[in-house]
Amino acid sequence: MEKRPRRLRSNEIIRRMVRETRVDKASLIYPMFVKEGEGIEEQIPSLEGQYRYSVDRLAYGLEEVERAGVSSVMLFGIPGQKDACGSGAYADDGIIQKALREGKKRFPGLYFITDVCLCEYTSHGHCGMLQGDGVDNDSTLKVLEKVALSHAEAGADMVAPSDMMDGRVRSIRGALDRQGFTEIPIMSYAVKYASGFYAPFREAAGSAPAFGDRRGYQMDYHNLREGLKEALLDEEEGADILMVKPAMTYLDVLTRVKEATHLPVAAYSVSGEYAMVKAAARQGWIDEEKILCEMAVAVFRAGASSYLTYGAKELARWMDEGR
Ligand code: PBG
Ligand code: ZN
Repeated sequence: MEKRPRRLRSNEIIRRMVRETRVDKASLIYPMFVKEGEGIEEQIPSLEGQYRYSVDRLAYGLEEVERAGVSSVMLFGIPGQKDACGSGAYADDGIIQKALREGKKRFPGLYFITDVCLCEYTSHGHCGMLQGDGVDNDSTLKVLEKVALSHAEAGADMVAPSDMMDGRVRSIRGALDRQGFTEIPIMSYAVKYASGFYAPFREAAGSAPAFGDRRGYQMDYHNLREGLKEALLDEEEGADILMVKPAMTYLDVLTRVKEATHLPVAAYSVSGEYAMVKAAARQGWIDEEKILCEMAVAVFRAGASSYLTYGAKELARWMDEGR
């Protein structure tokens, strides 16, 4: 036998020497939930180890993020009230706007990304304006512009539209530029599939649609080429980073998007991916650390530059410890 691949696996030094994928905690983005109210720091039942914070308690959560060496967060808001047009999403005293002012003031070294969508703020729970029993694309764009702009005004470092309306990246870019926010990047949830993996998030944020589902705007998971179409459109419309979501079941898409565009690609391990790991680990059936590391390396191996995950703080710690 001349070829013995096992030679390069014989000890930890050689294994590490020839590693093809190396991870860096600078790539990590940690999703967080901020909720209207006071004195709230509550565990999210569907997302073990994750919390909803009121603005006055948010610093506790951000402090942990900073201590773990994670430099970037993605904020999701849970408003006190909802209405048909999701006006809480762009209110000057809205939950995200207040969280941004507080967060930026106390943690100037952290990078704040905001999810731009309406589903947490609409009484019907859809990501846009209703017309009949569907979501109207073009009237939603106007509202999304207001949301993104209000986030920028409150101090967001980056905005991330997740609604899946057509043309929203161009609309938001235009709105930001007209107000002088030319340097605020847009991370587009460009390739976002209609997925069962979002269920724990909807429980956490109270954003499940009151009727129907999101298949009229989020993508059909049978389609790969359509994902490339979405990615290329968003690049053309001015997106700075393209996201593929969920992660684990869409790594083929991620690799192809990476090849098809010149933009950095982000992967989002969504709530259901994390919840499955937690549930199985609690039973003692899998090792949480091993699985979270394996999932993380997989997205980087597939081509991701950045990684959104509820396990960001743990991953950062494990990286520090050289595991
Ligand atoms: C809002 C939004 C969702 C997620 C990110 N932004 C929920 C959805 O589209 O239903 C999912 C994140 C997760 O599951 O962790 N549109
Ligand atoms: Zn939404």
